[in-house]
Amino acid sequence: MDNQPLIPQLFTERLTLRGVTEADVKAYERNFIDYEVVRHLSAVIPWPYPEDGVRTFIRDQVLPVQGRDRWVWGLHLKDVDGLIGAIDLWRPGRPENRGFWLGRSFWGRGYMTEAVVRVTDFAFQDLGFDHLVFTNAVGNRRSHDIKARTGATLVGVAPAKFVDPAYNEHEIWRLTKAQWSKWRGLSGPGATGKTPQP
Ligand SMILES: CC(C)(COP(=O)(O)OP(=O)(O)OC[C@H]1O[C@@H](n2cnc3c(N)ncnc32)[C@H](O)[C@@H]1OP(=O)(O)O)[C@@H](O)C(=O)NCCC(=O)NCCS
Repeated sequence: MDNQPLIPQLFTERLTLRGVTEADVKAYERNFIDYEVVRHLSAVIPWPYPEDGVRTFIRDQVLPVQGRDRWVWGLHLKDVDGLIGAIDLWRPGRPENRGFWLGRSFWGRGYMTEAVVRVTDFAFQDLGFDHLVFTNAVGNRRSHDIKARTGATLVGVAPAKFVDPAYNEHEIWRLTKAQWSKWRGLSGPGATGKTPQP
């Protein structure tokens, strides 16, 4: 993989975001292979999850395109070793351009919102996106809240399939570069994604 462009490390107040590599497999498996995490994701992900699925995913689906059409970062706490979640961007959209997940024991502390703010800056400032599309299962309250909290607009609902067959629709959100600049202006440079106070 010597000829592949690397993706840059990104930093937030509490996190380092690093391009995922095969060194992350163990921590990725520990946090990701959990029905409470995976059930909210697209039905293209197999469940039960295959034994070597994480290694195969990183080797075959991430590394060959990392930094080209896809950017996959692992979330690492600054003071503790090991990946606790991941966030990725891709183009073209299908229709969405972003995915994320966090190990269950790390929910409820604002880590993903913090990562989302940094990655959204990178998408607009460095990768040249002029808008981003996001989706989440109707009923995935935590994922919905991240979009609502970070300035995106809910533009529709459409049929979609998820690992959890009880989900059958997704919400579609849109965030333009102009909306993001405005949200950032209200939130200030140190924003962690808390609802801006106009
Ligand atoms: C989606 C997912 C990453 C969201 O996790 P999360 O912990 O709710 O999101 P954040 O890390 O941004 O934390 C937000 C929570 O921390 C709280 N919080 C604490 N400090 C905060 C801060 N500084 N900034 C923002 N929120 C903060 C918020 O109030 C919120 O909690 P609440 O929802 O109980 O009110 C996680 O639920 C997950 O991995 N789910 C399974 C996979 C999935 O659904 N992926 C998305 C598919 S579309």
